[in-house]
Formats: sequence, C-alpha cells, structure tokens
Amino acid sequence: MNALTHKHILLGVTGGIAAYKAPELVRRLRDAGADVRVVLTPAAAAFVTPLTLQAVSGRPVHQELLSAEAESGMGHIELARWADLILVAPATADFMARLAHGFADDLLAACCRAARAPIAIAPAMNVGMWQNAATQRNLRQLVDDGVRVFGPGSGSQACGEVGEGRMLEPLELVAACAGQFGGGALAGRRVVVSAGPTFEDLDPVRFIGNRSSGRMGYAVAQAAREAGADVTLVSGPVALPDPPGIAVQRVRSALDMRAAVLAAVADADVYIGTAAVADYRPAAPATQKIKKDRDAFAIELVRNPDILAEVAGLARRPFTVGFAAETDDVLAYARRKLDDKRLDLIAANAVGAGLGFETDDNALTLLWPGGQRELPRASKAALARELIAVIAERLDARG
Ligand code: CTP
Repeated sequence: MNALTHKHILLGVTGGIAAYKAPELVRRLRDAGADVRVVLTPAAAAFVTPLTLQAVSGRPVHQELLSAEAESGMGHIELARWADLILVAPATADFMARLAHGFADDLLAACCRAARAPIAIAPAMNVGMWQNAATQRNLRQLVDDGVRVFGPGSGSQACGEVGEGRMLEPLELVAACAGQFGGGALAGRRVVVSAGPTFEDLDPVRFIGNRSSGRMGYAVAQAAREAGADVTLVSGPVALPDPPGIAVQRVRSALDMRAAVLAAVADADVYIGTAAVADYRPAAPATQKIKKDRDAFAIELVRNPDILAEVAGLARRPFTVGFAAETDDVLAYARRKLDDKRLDLIAANAVGAGLGFETDDNALTLLWPGGQRELPRASKAALARELIAVIAERLDARG
C-alpha cells in the first residue's frame, strides 16, 4: 500500500508563479492515494483559480479566515485537526517570513499555527529572493522550529534568471510527502553519511585541513532522510547547522571519523562516504604550541586509514558508496577506485571551473560494476536526491 493512502494533506498555496503547478500537484497527491484539501491565500488566487483547485481536489477550496460561512463549515481549527501533513507549495518568501514570525492573520497562517501535524514547505521564488539574507534567516528559523523544507530545486526560472529557487516538481513533492509517512524509497533503511573535511592537528592551535564545505554530504543526508531513511551524519568541522531529523556526530580528525563511522555502520544498510578525509596526519602532533625558533622545519606525515575501504571490507558490509573528486581523467580514476576499494557505487566529479568544493552546484557521474549514469550540473540538493534515488534502485536490485 502506498504511504499516502488515505492520508489527509492540507495543501496551502501561496501567491507565486509556481502556483500554476498546484492543480497538477493535487492530482498527483490524489493519484498516490491522499485526500487533499486546499487552502488558498488571497495572493495565490491571482495565479490559480479556486474553481480549478476545487475540481481537481473534489473538495471546496478554503480561502477566508474570518467569515461566518468559513467558520460554520471547516474553520482553521478543524482544518488543522483534519491534516496529517500541511504542505505549503509554493511557499513564497513572504509566506516563509510570516510563518517564521508566528503570524496568524490569514487562513493558511492560522492553520499552520493551530496544527499539531508536521508542516512542510516547498519554497519557490527568484534566486535573489531565495539568497536574500532575511529569507535565509527565516529559513533557519523554520528549520529550527521543525518545519520540513522540500527543495528548492535549481534551473531556469519564470523570471528569466537561472539558479536556486524553483519549486520541486509535483512528483518530487509527492515522494517527499510519502517520505514523511515512512514510505520513501529508503523507508526502513539505516544510512550513515560522512561529510566535510577532517582536521589533522599539528599542535594545540594549528591543523592541516582542506576546502570541503560539507554541503554535498549534508544534502545527501537530508535527501536520505526525505526518502524515509534513519540517518546518521558523521561530520567533520563545517559551518553548517545540524539538519533536522538527523543524528549528527561531530568529529575532528580522520581517526575520530573512522571510529564514529565504524561504530555507526555496524547495523547500517548504506554507507555514503562524502567526507574529504585527510590522507595523512602529522606523525607526532606537538602538545604545546610550536614556536618559530627555526628557519625551516619539516613535518613528518603518516598515512591515515582509508575509512571507505575499511567499511567496504567489513564481513557484514553495508551498500558502500564512495566519492571521487578528480581534476583529470575523472572516469578512469573513479572506475579504478570503485574496483580497488570494492565499492558498490562511486560518485565522481570534476573539481575546478566553478564545480565541486565551496560551490552550490555540482555535476556527478555515477559508476557501479557494470553501469554508469550522468547527473548533469544542478544544485547539490537536487543531485543528492537523484543520487539517493539511484542508491535505492541499486539496493533494491541487489535484493
Ligand atoms: N576516503 C576515506 N578515508 C580516507 C580517504 C578517503 O574514507 N582516508 C574516502 C572518501 O570519503 C571518498 C573516497 O574515499 O569517498 C575518496 O577516495 P580517495 O581515493 O581517497 O580520493 P583521493 O584522496 O582524492 O585519492 P587519490 O589521491 O588517489 O586521488
């Protein structure tokens, strides 16, 4: 049975151009078995008609907070009680601001305030509005408050710009909703993700690190969570907040990361090694700050254990996924890593030219024994979702 069968989805539509996709979203949710009621904000009614939404949902559309008619039918409290999930799609920058600040001055905002059910938003706006400091601040607040955030995706926008801020496609939103009810592609699976750099201490104040931001790994962890997995994220030092609904273990060095990963994968179904683990560490880190009392000196480095290869070599090994960032001969090197480390799948990416480290976008080639798939340039969040879909597919194929 589908995870959405007989689930009550209260769909809030707010006033952005992506509202034209709302009728299609309602149809897809209903195809998946959900019972859908629509709340339309006044601005949304300028983009999509209540009549259309009523026709596709098979229910009256709710628009007003304060009217005798509204309160004699289903008022905001009843609607909030009815919902198993509130999905706001599209969610405009303005609506995100109002939700983050506790407003309850229209029907949708009041429903969100009254609801005990989880709330998910699918942001949709121009890339500049999405990146705006206030929007990002509101987003962090919403995530802190437990609101699920589906997307946004990136690509060409209605305004003619290209970038992050596109609403996810209706089918992606249906899958994300299903994930909320344990019905995602990785439902019931335990997934461990490593992310970020490792820092190898030279002395109490200095270390050898690398430029990994952790963004790809955090996006992968979040996508696995959205797909219904129980996720543990083992993270090196990064400036990212803990993603909601994910158990995060913060570590510093490669040796710390190894210990945390090996403990976490003991009962895992999947390990995804996105971390940029330092290959070497100082042989004898100084216990006191090194003084500049010499003109030159050499630091002896020793090899760190290869965590990914160790996980792949376990007797009871999870489905093991590696990453390979290469500057040249990407596919040949990646295929060699796949074979040498006996991985189930490797995600290869070319670094440089605005891709890879410290960027929002990436492009990946997925390789597995006997197969290959290109994931063209997209936001790390979008790529992470595609990667998770392929992992789920391969995992199912393996049985
Ligand atoms: N990895 C690991 N432990 C290490 C080093 C790498 O688990 N000590 C994992 C990374 O998380 C990533 C993959 O291995 O999934 C990267 O492969 P690797 O061969 O280490 O890449 P490079 O360090 O770039 O190797 P090379 O110098 O051979 O290109």
